[in-house]
Amino acid sequence: MRALLYASILRKAAVQYVREIRYFLKAKQRYVDGAGLENNPNLILRKKTHHLERYLFSPASYTPEFAEDSADIIEKILENRKDIPVDQEKWARKILGEFKGRTEHTSSVVCPMLKNNVTPAQSPVAAEKLIELLRQRRSRRIFIDASLTKAEKIAICNAAQYAPSSCNRQTIYLIFVEEPKLKEFVASTVPGGYQFFSKAPCILLLVSDAGDYRYPDDRVIPFMDGAAAAENVYLLCETMGLGCCWGSYSSFGSIINEDKLRQKLGIPDTHLIVSCLAIGRSRQVVCDIPREPAENRFWNNYYGNS
Ligand SMILES: Cc1cc2nc3c(=O)[nH]c(=O)nc-3n(C[C@H](O)[C@H](O)[C@H](O)COP(=O)(O)O)c2cc1C
Repeated sequence: MRALLYASILRKAAVQYVREIRYFLKAKQRYVDGAGLENNPNLILRKKTHHLERYLFSPASYTPEFAEDSADIIEKILENRKDIPVDQEKWARKILGEFKGRTEHTSSVVCPMLKNNVTPAQSPVAAEKLIELLRQRRSRRIFIDASLTKAEKIAICNAAQYAPSSCNRQTIYLIFVEEPKLKEFVASTVPGGYQFFSKAPCILLLVSDAGDYRYPDDRVIPFMDGAAAAENVYLLCETMGLGCCWGSYSSFGSIINEDKLRQKLGIPDTHLIVSCLAIGRSRQVVCDIPREPAENRFWNNYYGNS
């Protein structure tokens, strides 16, 4: 019995790992070919300068080839673009110069994103109000049959886009599925939610362009980016009278019929599907699901040390 169980887990894992590697190879290829450069050169310049700076501080962070590639991309952008913010250009040239000359790294010019000794803007929401919202947010699975408005969709995109992302890569794209037949099909690919997903006015899929992530080290980071974005969407929905429920759904094994889904929705095979949410107007009051008291969930410095 145990042998059968192990064999089944190993077989599934092998199939899954091959799929994973396939996504990353394709995504990497596309990235190396420079497909992303046209889209947002300033963003790529900033990311690549970060990579190179990290390499200068700590050469073990990346391979020399990766650093060389980053330097080439920085050079190409600096040569071809005239609209780079001045401080960003200055920083990129400095790091590139240090890399080329392998001069000692100094921090006299810092990343333009970092500013110290300034007064941060005051939060528009008081802490107690935010906690109230966090506590009020619930997964709602019963919806009124009414479409999302364009303004709501844009607000949702903004919420997702302002989520934190690793190295500010901003790899998340949203697909709002509302066409009834297509939605029915997408719902059938969600293992834990066919019934309510098919009845939701909208299924939101979050996909991540994984090209800028390293495999295998970074293979789950796109899912973390996706989870951060999904939580922002959840919270925003709560403030807009929209119900929202997450479905366990990821390209690493929990989508039914993923190949067909990708083909129907035209999702590039360089992108990982990282989350899905059922969304729609809702008047459902969800019964209370108590949480373990927060005091029972933290330790000081060492696990188990209260
Ligand atoms: C990663 C993740 C996957 C989830 N998958 C499902 C799912 O497949 N089906 C479902 O009905 N709920 C799903 N949920 C919702 C959880 O069941 C829900 O968050 C949990 O029961 C707590 O309830 P609350 O969100 O109302 O506080 C998921 C939530 C998360 C964070």
